[in-house]
Amino acid sequence: MLVNPKIFKTSTFRLAAIYLLLFALSTATILSYVYYSTVSLLERQTEDTIRAEVEGLADQYRIRGMSGILDVVERRSREKGGGLYALNGPNGAHIAGNLLTFPKGPIEDRDWIDFPIRVGEGAAVRDHIVRAFHVELTGEYELLVGRDVQGLRLFGEVIKKTLYWALGLAMILGLGGGFLLSRNFLKRIDAITEASHTIMAGDLSQRMPITGSGDELDRLGTSLNEMLSQIERLMAGMKDVTGNVAHDLKTPLTRMKARVEAALRSERKAEYRGALSQTIEECDGLLRTFNALLSIAQAESGQPRQALESLDAHDILLDVVELYEPIAEEAGGTLTLQADPGLLVHGNRQLLAQAVSNLIDNALKYGDGPDGSGAQISVRGKIEQNTVYISVADSGAGIPAKDIDRVRDRFVRLDESRSKPGNGLGLSLVSSVMTLHSGKLLLEDNQPGLKAVLILPLVS
Ligand SMILES: Nc1ncnc2c1ncn2[C@@H]1O[C@H](COP(=O)(O)OP(=O)(O)OP(=O)(O)O)[C@@H](O)[C@H]1O
Ligand SMILES: [Mg+2]
Repeated sequence: MLVNPKIFKTSTFRLAAIYLLLFALSTATILSYVYYSTVSLLERQTEDTIRAEVEGLADQYRIRGMSGILDVVERRSREKGGGLYALNGPNGAHIAGNLLTFPKGPIEDRDWIDFPIRVGEGAAVRDHIVRAFHVELTGEYELLVGRDVQGLRLFGEVIKKTLYWALGLAMILGLGGGFLLSRNFLKRIDAITEASHTIMAGDLSQRMPITGSGDELDRLGTSLNEMLSQIERLMAGMKDVTGNVAHDLKTPLTRMKARVEAALRSERKAEYRGALSQTIEECDGLLRTFNALLSIAQAESGQPRQALESLDAHDILLDVVELYEPIAEEAGGTLTLQADPGLLVHGNRQLLAQAVSNLIDNALKYGDGPDGSGAQISVRGKIEQNTVYISVADSGAGIPAKDIDRVRDRFVRLDESRSKPGNGLGLSLVSSVMTLHSGKLLLEDNQPGLKAVLILPLVS
């Protein structure tokens, strides 16, 4: 199996390694403590036993002299208590005791000595370690009292070995675990990186992989995906607008060009004037389109959100209705206002006035009665359950149910309306302004006519 070197750089692996190190250190400390305290306790017990025996022998020596020691050593050598004894005379001659091998080398100035002896175990002969207390007696006599500590030493070795194995195993398991965890983590990061590369290469429909476990990577992926969806929507909207703008500007510009060319070909002053004034009209239309698009862009960018203030929509309704009343009457219609005071909303005055104006403008344009009578427009403002409702209703032809959603889109105009001036941007702007104000634009059948309702949260 090939190991990906990137694994060692992952935070998961580093964390696992740090924990492993801490774990190994604490395990080693605990096991060493157990080892040393166990082994030293056993060694101390052995030494205490030997020391007690030596003291007993010293007592004999004081009372009965050399013969006392000789007696006791010979007796104890025969007992099966595990004690080892050696009494040597001058020149190292063995006098008494069950220990026949006396350690070689200078041992005069040392009390405690360790030395090997050969012991028969069944048919085999093995080396054992003896720990002994060495006493020099008068007349070049020497006495050794000891114990076979081979078992003790072996026990220590076993504990030591266990310690190494435990540490080794912990390291292997820890490293393996860290490695597996990191590999899993890295795989998912790689998948996310790969997805983002595909997206950067232009495929905006691609999404980050989600495992469904709901862990932090999933949460990150989900919010990235939401962000991507938003970007995709904005990009699609932008594409639409650019296409629509190009298409919508092409017609008036072509018209303008043709008219100017025709005027240039003519010699008459009156024709020049006519062409110029028509050009100015076209320019006004173009400017209106641009202004509407800019207002939509401004409302959609969410930037004026900071510029939102608490205001009374009642005042806005008064102003706008006052402005449009003469126009409605001139066209043979009526415009009435019925509004509660205190329609407090959090909003942008200019954009809200623009939205209401757009609705009244539509009612004026499309709200004529079937018999050709002028539009009967009623504007209302009321509060219901912490919500402000502002409606503009007419009794014209209305909008067919199948088109009611579509008309909010940019540049959408229904066929019946083509005879009237307009760009199909009015309702788009109203929609965007409502989104900016956390509100909604509702279009419903007024039977007959259209009723457009702005729904805004009331500011208490
Ligand atoms: N009150 C209404 N009665 C009937 N149809 C309407 C009404 N208001 C809007 N519409 C239909 O919805 C379409 C879109 O309206 P919108 O206000 O977005 O654009 P417009 O009025 O055509 O142009 P603009 O508002 O940009 O000058 C209109 O072209 C018209 O077909
Ligand atoms: Mg309009």
